[in-house]
Amino acid sequence: MKRFLLPLLALLPFLAAAQELRLIPYPLYLQADEGMYAPEGGVATVYTDLRGDDRRQLLDYIASSPLPLKAVKKQAKAHVRLLLDELDPSLQQPEAYRLEITPQGADAYACHPQGLFYAFQTLMQLDGQAAPAGTGDHSLPLVKIFDEPAHQWRGWHMDVSRHFFGKEFLTKQLRMMARYKLNRFHWHLTDDSGWRLEIKRYPQLTDSTAYRPQALWEEWGDQGARFCSAKAPGAYGGYFTQRDVREIVDYAQCLGITVVPEIDVPGHSRAALAAFPALACTGRAYENSELCLGNDETFTFVTNVLTEVLDLFPSEYIHIGGDEADRSHWARCPKCQALMQREGLADVKELQSWFTRRLEDWLTQRGRKLLGWDEIMEGGLSPRATVMSWRGERSAVEAATDGHDVVMTPWQCYLDNAQDDPTTEPRGVGGYVPLRLTYALDAVPVGLDAAAAPHILGVQGNLWTERIATEAHAEYMLYPRICAVAENGWTVPERKSWERFHRFALDEVDYLHAQGYNAFNLAAEKGDRPEAQQPVRHLAVGRTPAYTHAPSPKYPGRGPATLTDGERGSYNYQEGQWLGFENQDCEVTLDLDSVQPIAYVAASFMQRADQWIWLPSEVQISVSDDGQDYRILSREPQEVDFDNPAIIFRTYTWEGATRVRYVRLTAKASGRPGGWLFTDEIIIK
Ligand code: ACM
Repeated sequence: MKRFLLPLLALLPFLAAAQELRLIPYPLYLQADEGMYAPEGGVATVYTDLRGDDRRQLLDYIASSPLPLKAVKKQAKAHVRLLLDELDPSLQQPEAYRLEITPQGADAYACHPQGLFYAFQTLMQLDGQAAPAGTGDHSLPLVKIFDEPAHQWRGWHMDVSRHFFGKEFLTKQLRMMARYKLNRFHWHLTDDSGWRLEIKRYPQLTDSTAYRPQALWEEWGDQGARFCSAKAPGAYGGYFTQRDVREIVDYAQCLGITVVPEIDVPGHSRAALAAFPALACTGRAYENSELCLGNDETFTFVTNVLTEVLDLFPSEYIHIGGDEADRSHWARCPKCQALMQREGLADVKELQSWFTRRLEDWLTQRGRKLLGWDEIMEGGLSPRATVMSWRGERSAVEAATDGHDVVMTPWQCYLDNAQDDPTTEPRGVGGYVPLRLTYALDAVPVGLDAAAAPHILGVQGNLWTERIATEAHAEYMLYPRICAVAENGWTVPERKSWERFHRFALDEVDYLHAQGYNAFNLAAEKGDRPEAQQPVRHLAVGRTPAYTHAPSPKYPGRGPATLTDGERGSYNYQEGQWLGFENQDCEVTLDLDSVQPIAYVAASFMQRADQWIWLPSEVQISVSDDGQDYRILSREPQEVDFDNPAIIFRTYTWEGATRVRYVRLTAKASGRPGGWLFTDEIIIK
């Protein structure tokens, strides 16, 4: 790196004057110069010194690209040269590359075909940037780039179980993922709602659980969550044959993308149990989603499936799921209990951990690595296992500190959340994750010890499809947020800039639309909850309320003064301006220090049915002069509409004229066990 960089760094002060080159993800070092390379007669010649399959793959890719390039066999005759350089100490990472565009053409160097592929991706993004917009001219801007990824794992996860998405859709997305230098496709192939992978040994899996009578996942759930045969009238679903899989794996490999399969066990296995009820603790299908771990047939079944998976997927990492198992079934199952006794397992968490370790040993013996959602840490984890952290950064910090490799995919990477006003956006999972929040994620969690930071392998954007039934909707959720995931994974934090990225993303959305991708229209973004966009001044600001019941430690906001800091909550209850009360009324009392006139009291609550957050069943505002005797100013009982899936924000207010010292807000919980109340500010004027 040094050889190339030092002169470059010396030039940095002059860069401000140069043209701004749009690149996503943004490179490590870039120096733009005045001028351009314009291919003579509109066509340039290209040469690479790659050999064999690597050469064929790259030249095929170039031939199918929009760049007007003609391959030549002699380096001396080429305008664009893509060359291996295994000696340059700056090009040690297989994905690193150098690219220089001069008035005579372009030279790219890398130590590995993958680096040359990425140099070509950069070239394609630069294509036309030196020409006036819309001319279709292929002139390239003059530039020197040295680039390498900050992180080795830059992933896209796709759930094809909740709704089925076929080969054409997946390959179309993989082409775009390559543009953003993403290199992992995490393929969520099995879940409760359908088994999507042909397993030759167990044809029953796809014969009996790849189709269902209802196309929409929610309707399927409401109507008993049963499967049907492919031939049943109106059957919805599908699966991938092993031939399909090989095609997709090969296709992805040509794009520098490793396909990481996920077979989600021991939970999320309703489909597997519908085909093989004997693997359930009760021996009956459709009763739960957990494989019986006390039945040795379960391990045989899973490893037989994995044997075929290993044959199909060359990926070093094999994802075994491990998330959200309802372990209570194992606590009631005589076979699981007997196994726990035999193995000296203290609880059902240890039982799952025992199963994960067995799978891990099995995979290790076959030269692969086990990857699982962060629940696999519970009950003890084999030191070799890799953790995919989804439940906040705490699990990532814990896993990395314990020496496990970690892939980060916290809520900012959950692309099934709305990216704009969730009260008007197409229905997603119910939360609010605008591009800004996805971009704001640091791959390495704040608070992780520097020594443990190398355990963070990278980041991944997840697209779960409970409420995403169409390809158009899936693309809408993916783009442009996956660009932010890509930049988080590739670009070192010091080189990230929200303002620059946002400008580029606006142009990128135009590009995506022109290419036939249904990206979210970023230019029309409305932004966050209007109430959250500016502070509110009122009498209670700076006074800490007294709480009759403490807020949940899971959602403490920014401490007890959250409700009186003058800041209203955003659309996102996880962002720290919301206080959560679990199974509890919210009752807070404000002391204004002296009796004084007030004319207005207000508090807002949120409903998000999918997260068990409900509006209160009653809100009462009462006041007192002495803190003993309270008189009621307003009382609003309401029926909680538990079935309303919309995100609702409701403000409860009293207006009038009175003199008081104490103000008390009492919001009664909905009454539904496990339910939450969320509130953001108590405003007194
Ligand atoms: C997950 O979102 N259940 C990993």
